[in-house]
Amino acid sequence: MITDPRVELASLAAQIAEHAERYHRDDAPTISDADYDALVRRNAELEAAYLDLVRFDSPANKVGSTAAAGFGKVVHSRPMLSLDNAFAAADVGEFVGRVRRFLRLPDDEPVTLTAEPKIDGLSISLMYRDGTLVSAATRGDGSVGEDVLANILTVADVPQRLPAEVARVVDVRGEIYMAKADFLALNVAQNAAGGRAFANPRNAAAGSLRQLDVAVTASRPLRFLAHGWGEISHLPADSQSGVMAAFASWGFPVSDRLRVCLTLDAALVVYDGIEHDRAVLPFDIDGVVYKVDRLDWQARLGQVARSPRWALAHKFPAERATTRLLAIDIQVGRTGQLTPVARLEAVGVGGVIVTNATLHNEDEIARKDVRVGDIVELQRAGDVIPQIIGPILDGAERPEAFVFPIICPACGSLAAREAGEVARRCTGGLICPAQRIERLRHFVGRRAFDIEGLGSERIELFVAEGLIVTPADIFKLAGHRGSLVARRGFDQLSVDKLLAAIDARRKITLDRFLFALGIRHVGETTARDLARAYLTYTAFLERVELALTIRAAAAAAVGESEDKARARTAQALATVFAVGGVGPEVAAAITDFFAEAHNRDLVENIIEQVVIGGMAVTTQASTVTGKTVVFTGSLETMSRDEARAQAERIGARVAASVSARTDLVVAGSGAGAKTAKAAALGITVINEAEWAAIVNPAVSD
Ligand code: IVH
Repeated sequence: MITDPRVELASLAAQIAEHAERYHRDDAPTISDADYDALVRRNAELEAAYLDLVRFDSPANKVGSTAAAGFGKVVHSRPMLSLDNAFAAADVGEFVGRVRRFLRLPDDEPVTLTAEPKIDGLSISLMYRDGTLVSAATRGDGSVGEDVLANILTVADVPQRLPAEVARVVDVRGEIYMAKADFLALNVAQNAAGGRAFANPRNAAAGSLRQLDVAVTASRPLRFLAHGWGEISHLPADSQSGVMAAFASWGFPVSDRLRVCLTLDAALVVYDGIEHDRAVLPFDIDGVVYKVDRLDWQARLGQVARSPRWALAHKFPAERATTRLLAIDIQVGRTGQLTPVARLEAVGVGGVIVTNATLHNEDEIARKDVRVGDIVELQRAGDVIPQIIGPILDGAERPEAFVFPIICPACGSLAAREAGEVARRCTGGLICPAQRIERLRHFVGRRAFDIEGLGSERIELFVAEGLIVTPADIFKLAGHRGSLVARRGFDQLSVDKLLAAIDARRKITLDRFLFALGIRHVGETTARDLARAYLTYTAFLERVELALTIRAAAAAAVGESEDKARARTAQALATVFAVGGVGPEVAAAITDFFAEAHNRDLVENIIEQVVIGGMAVTTQASTVTGKTVVFTGSLETMSRDEARAQAERIGARVAASVSARTDLVVAGSGAGAKTAKAAALGITVINEAEWAAIVNPAVSD
């Protein structure tokens, strides 16, 4: 429990900033809107109570997140604001009271409000000049957004031309969203195609709009609804409702639930009506927005910090329900991560029948203390998959606490949890059926064994038919030649080609071989470091044996499990490997891999089929030989792979993140945090042209 308000405000600022980035920039929130709102509310509470502690970077003064790299920037001619939130009817009364006091209205002067659904989408600014759509931008940080004109041009709801007589300049603002039914259909299609499913319609809309490939946006069912405006050269009416009616007549979709309310009570009745219909509305909404109807009053009211004084979002409470927790199943993902899934007695919440809920990870189960057999409370806040809030304790005896498995339910290997990580992962790798396809795909990938013609589809087919179980089986496919030729999609020629491609890879360099095994934390760079240090697989294996002996001895000495010994011995193991780039984490991961007998068998079986050579990389000395380089931002003249290859050719190491050990940062366009960090650490930052001069000194002179 945090007690010092200063510390709590700092923590809230960091949390809110992080969640805002995940939501706005990455379209991938990790907490519900309701939880996010709770953080913002807590921040506002504290700021109100401790005025002298309000931070210079107070989250109350920020909207959204900075524009993402990859899109052009658009400076909004009027800032795109956010809305003040209310959660209770009394707050709406206070809002009207504030409006009255600000405008010094007599008590009998009515304050007419518009009320309309608050759509859960992403806000967009559409700039028209002389009747033509010339710019479209996301909100970004409120002042500068992303240029998404090309994407918006694919959205049928957005008019590209306006009738001749309307304003010379008009910035129509509204919401890009996806209907619930379209969202569900999209997720089905995404799943079928092996793509990423979206958490909710808002993320789906944002993810679909913010595509560098416009064809993807065009294929997605995006909709638009206008709810306001920015710059406008001529107002077509003197009221909010009047302008919205004009927008509708110009061809913009406007909510058919927009009502003009002469009294506060009338506005609250509209709220109740919209909340009542929430589940049957075709799109997700998270509240009702009230706006002062008179535009002269709006102008006088102006704004405070990030939101206008003339508008208020009256949020709906998160939809909740209670049901029984029947089981906690552990799912093993394609990368080996163990994810607990709550199986629930079916219950309706927010218009959908729910039978599953995520529990995220073992810490969350412990924190919420949910146990199989409990009656639990659920909440659905926009997301399709609801969250479990916690058990309902009625004083009766509790079921037994849930014990999170440390053995992978899919293959029986140890599931290890690394220091500082919330996830537990199966160490079974290639032998784990949950990970098999993914691992095989990695094994034959371009940077590993590089087997041409053995793509994902064929791997899936061969695994399904039992022709391939482990990587060694790839090299035994020739034995199935006859039955392969008879298969659909194959003929003599294609089978010959595939088998030849496989044969061509029976000789492999040590670095590629180690990388292909898919040992956690052993990426290409580490694999190269290891190969450079040991030169032969036999020498490498000797080190591994030593590491295994040390860990087993350490565990035996204090009578603890290997799982516990793992963390304690990691540092010692790093010393055993004595390779730059192999720290405790990597050393422990390599040791884990070889500690599993089935992994040893699997590697032995591959070795029977292939010949492992030394390193293929010949380095030419340069000014960066032996130095560590980090590439950041988007590189224009080369791919990341090429940049890495170049660096390695001239003897440099490539690292993913900037640290005190970094010698040089090469920054492409849009580079941000890493460059800043480099500057702070006093590390030299150069651009692509300067890098090219290092790689190829003769040419650039
Ligand atoms: S009016 C000054 N009306 O909610 C901001 N906003 O939480 C004017 N939103 O950024 C916004 N439905 O993107 C307005 N009917 C509606 C809305 C709406 C959804 C979004 C909008 C805004 C966000 C604020």
